This record gives sequence, structure tokens and C-alpha cells, in this order.
Amino acid sequence: MIIAVDGPAASGKGTLARRLAAHFGLRHLDTGLLYRAVARQVLAAGGDLSDPAARLAAAHALDPADLDATGLRSQAMGEAASIIAADQEVRRAILAFQRDFAQAPPGAVLDGRDIGTVVCPDADVKLFVIASAEERARRRHAELSAAGENVAYKDVLSDIRARDARDTSRTVAPLKPATDALLLDTTELDIEAAFRAAVDMIGGS
Ligand code: DC
Repeated sequence: MIIAVDGPAASGKGTLARRLAAHFGLRHLDTGLLYRAVARQVLAAGGDLSDPAARLAAAHALDPADLDATGLRSQAMGEAASIIAADQEVRRAILAFQRDFAQAPPGAVLDGRDIGTVVCPDADVKLFVIASAEERARRRHAELSAAGENVAYKDVLSDIRARDARDTSRTVAPLKPATDALLLDTTELDIEAAFRAAVDMIGGS
């Protein structure tokens, strides 16, 4: 069984995907971490995010252990990931890793931007998770503050808007719901309610 969970930054898709994986006994992959790890490699090697050769070298060198690196979930790394994610060659380089992960038994829940449209177009279930930009900024701000990152709410909101614009407007694998995706709006839902709604939509108990 493969479940694709797509949606914009801070929509709650990551937490939801983890909960669904535990519930259905599946493995979970946060694909945003792949892009974050590639961006981190470029920067750690003293490279420039706008250099296609540096981006591609980092994507080819990606090791699963890189996903455990500290600092990947920072605001800056999310922004950097969004920049390198517009590169078709980078996306192609990490596609096989994502597909292999999804297809290994007993199946998996993958969350990202293009899981239902590109990575796993034949997924058994596709969820597209949304929430208002203000609510997503509120959640991300609380998360970053809890992690000790000192950022202003208005900066988080403008970052979310910039990332939405970049992720939806890029020509390669843009953020958009698959035609057969189920839409879940979590603006008014807490984690538990969103999880229950998703299980109902999937048809489990
Ligand atoms: O989900 P996230 O915030 O960790 O993702 C970081 C960036 O990576 C996001 O702005 C766009 C990119 N990304 C992508 O293009 N495709 C994916 N499947 C996952 C993330």
C-alpha cells in the first residue's frame, strides 16, 4: 500500500503522514528532507545554490544518513531546499530513491509536493493537505520558536508565501493536487482531528 500526502509548507502533511504510517503499519518518508539535505550539502561544500553543477553533484552524492543531519528543519534550509527543488536534474537524481522507498514491502507513506503527481502516480490513496497561509505561518512560527529559532511571525508568513509561489509556479513538478487526490483542509483542525478525517477519507478505522 502506498499513500501519497502532498501539500504546501506547514500544512500539517508531515505530522499527518507519520501518524498514518504508524496507523497502517507502513514506513514513512518525508521527501522534503531529501531536498533540504541536498541544499545543505551544497552549502557545506562552500558551493552556490544557483550553480547547477554543485546542485547535481550534491544530489548524486545524497546518502540516506544525510537525512539525520542536524539543522535540516531550519527556516533557512527550507528556503534553500525550495530553490534547488526547481532544478529538473536534481529532481530526477532523487526520484529513484523515492520510488524504491515507496515500493519496498510493506509499502509506505510519502509526503511532499509531487508524490501523487510524479513520484507515485499509482499510489493507492492520494491526499492533498491545505490550510490558510496565516494558520500555517502560526504553526511554523510555534515550531521554530520551540526549537529555539528566534524569528518574527511576519517573516515566517512572508517566507511561507514566497515558498508557495515558488513551489506552485515552477515548471518542473509544481505543487498541485493530482486529479484523483482527496482534499483535506486542516485550517480548523488540530492534529488529532486531521488524522481522524484522513483515516475516514482513506476508509479505515
Ligand atoms: O516539505 P518541506 O518544507 O520540508 O520541503 C522543503 C522544500 O523542498 C519545498 O519548499 C519544496 C521542496 N520539495 C519538493 O519540491 N518536492 C517534494 N516532494 C518535497 C519538497
